[in-house]
Amino acid sequence: YSVDWDMSSVETGVYEHFMLKEIDEQPAVIRNIITQYQNDQGQLNIGQHLQGLKIPSRVYIVACGTSYHAGLVGKRLLEQIAHIPTEVHIASEFLYDQPLIEGDPLFIFISQSGETADSRGVLDQIKKQGFRTLTVTNVQGSTLYREADYKLLTHAGPEIAVASTKAYTAQIAVVALLSIYLAEQKGIAGSIDMFQELRTISTAMDTLKDMKDKAKHIVDEYLTDQRSCFFIGRLLDYAVCLEGALKLKEISYIQAEGYAGGELKHGPIALIEDGTPVFVLITDERIAKNIRSNAEEVVSRGAKTCVIAAEGLHEEGDQWVLPRVHPLLTPLVSVIPMQLISYYAALQRGCDVDKPRNLAKSVTVE
Ligand code: G6P
Repeated sequence: YSVDWDMSSVETGVYEHFMLKEIDEQPAVIRNIITQYQNDQGQLNIGQHLQGLKIPSRVYIVACGTSYHAGLVGKRLLEQIAHIPTEVHIASEFLYDQPLIEGDPLFIFISQSGETADSRGVLDQIKKQGFRTLTVTNVQGSTLYREADYKLLTHAGPEIAVASTKAYTAQIAVVALLSIYLAEQKGIAGSIDMFQELRTISTAMDTLKDMKDKAKHIVDEYLTDQRSCFFIGRLLDYAVCLEGALKLKEISYIQAEGYAGGELKHGPIALIEDGTPVFVLITDERIAKNIRSNAEEVVSRGAKTCVIAAEGLHEEGDQWVLPRVHPLLTPLVSVIPMQLISYYAALQRGCDVDKPRNLAKSVTVE
């Protein structure tokens, strides 16, 4: 298949690692996505890639790893913006235990590489059953791209580091635009000015990606000599906590668990000891109080909390304040501190940041 990039030209440049370069590229990727999916009149032109697509009664998102985590955010976007019930499935699970499928659904495959074997397996299975498919991928001409009925590119440019960063934010941005398109097709009024919101995001990302000293400081203070830690949040913040924990474990080998704040008391709180690092993410006004009280619960058992909170929801003593963005798009900014913390944690430990042990960029075997 053909790839529209000359891979030999991809270099780290001034960067020591691809991962940091790719983290830094995120504001530009978001701006590129705006350009790619906007016509000369500034209108959404994503529909040209979706010709003939009927509004689905339900969406099934199928993905693996970080792309699955982007899918968890995508579900909120499709449900809140386009009012389409959406399920998110891990491809390797779906493959052997397909849920009951009714009506006229759309299957959305999210995959950076477009080559992940488990996702390809589900696509084959679903096509045989005659369902409609859409792939959201970074690689034009990849297998998932070629074999799906509809395709949307994430336009993030080549992602080399095994740990995915810019592909994740790009996937979320593209699903946000898809949600707007479906909402418009359904005649849902009062839609969000998504291009404006994404421009705000890219500016917020510019600020956050430059806060490297803060990330290093947090790593020194919270993660030095630690073997395990938690990321807690609720709702969309929980989805980002899963991604933050995955990032940290895959490149720094610190055991990291992302947990829904309200579930801590049902088990994991037993693991909190004196000094256990707990990252607390707070970007949703509706549950800010609840997650603060979860943080207090762990502090009273000895945990050392590092609070990452949105402007306006922050309190004195919080470690990282995030710029305010649209409430459905907070993952696009809140993931950046997590990516940077993971990067510097791996660096501090002398790990091979771009090529972590036992992992592959693209898993083409089941
Ligand atoms: C591998 C990579 C992950 C990635 C996952 C899914 O495990 O190491 O970073 O999230 O595959 O890959 P995909 O290309 O389908 O997004």
